[in-house]
Amino acid sequence: MQTTPTQSTSERRTTQPKALLMCAPSAYDLLYEINAWMHLSDRPDKQLAWKQWEQLYRTLTEQIGIPVRLIEQASEAPDMVFTANAGLPLPGKQIVLSRFRHPERQVEEPYFEQWFHEQGYTVHLMPYDCAFEGEGDAFVIDELIVAGYLKRTDICAHRYLSRLTGWEVLSLELVDDRWYHLDTCFLPLGDRLVAYYPEAFDWYARRVIEQHFETIPVSPEEALKFACNSVVIGKHVVMPAGCPILRFYLEERGYTVHEVPMSEFIKSGGACKCLVLYLPED
Ligand code: ARG
Repeated sequence: MQTTPTQSTSERRTTQPKALLMCAPSAYDLLYEINAWMHLSDRPDKQLAWKQWEQLYRTLTEQIGIPVRLIEQASEAPDMVFTANAGLPLPGKQIVLSRFRHPERQVEEPYFEQWFHEQGYTVHLMPYDCAFEGEGDAFVIDELIVAGYLKRTDICAHRYLSRLTGWEVLSLELVDDRWYHLDTCFLPLGDRLVAYYPEAFDWYARRVIEQHFETIPVSPEEALKFACNSVVIGKHVVMPAGCPILRFYLEERGYTVHEVPMSEFIKSGGACKCLVLYLPED
């Protein structure tokens, strides 16, 4: 969107989350259909979902050692576990809150807003008519924002982010309803490396990605298993179980891969990364 010159790769500070925000699935359920994965005829097993969430939580806190902050799930917000959609945190304890596309998820907005206020964040709000689904659709990579649009986020949100930060925003059009958030098909791995599923993007977005990053393409089979929806903490990658090809490529590049079964969250259209919000401050 904006052509502010960015720093060269070597000068860039690498953005690393210092902590994560998660929400234990005390009221997690599938009570509506707002994406191509959700079917009321195939609701999650709540006990199994709890076990899978705990395994993710324990992998992050015990094996990787990153602090995890928790927000309580509101009883009327079955998708609130997907904290990646709370907003987009920015350095200096700031957050751009999400403005959800669907009323079913708009009920989450005041809970996230209150949490960030209580933690001392400066809260920025999108214009009313501008949908934005937070880190589900936007990644901060150093002083560059990579953002998806069309399905859940409107292009006006990219303009807002660019004006607010003064940073360049790479706007990527999502073209397939199964990959409706950027974090379902695009995985920043640090430095200039990303894994992504090319078919989720229009041809121009693919070209932009190829021009800006070193890329690892993800196969359709593993994209369908939410391979791109992984959490990256330094050289650790926590990914949904059952993606051996991406795992192989990552291990070859020196990453330590942790697999976590995510079947009960994939039923709602999310996996490891959707359950986590990256916080630049502890
Ligand atoms: N059921 C949720 C929705 O459709 C899933 C959100 C997944 N989150 C994500 N960051 N991809 O909104």
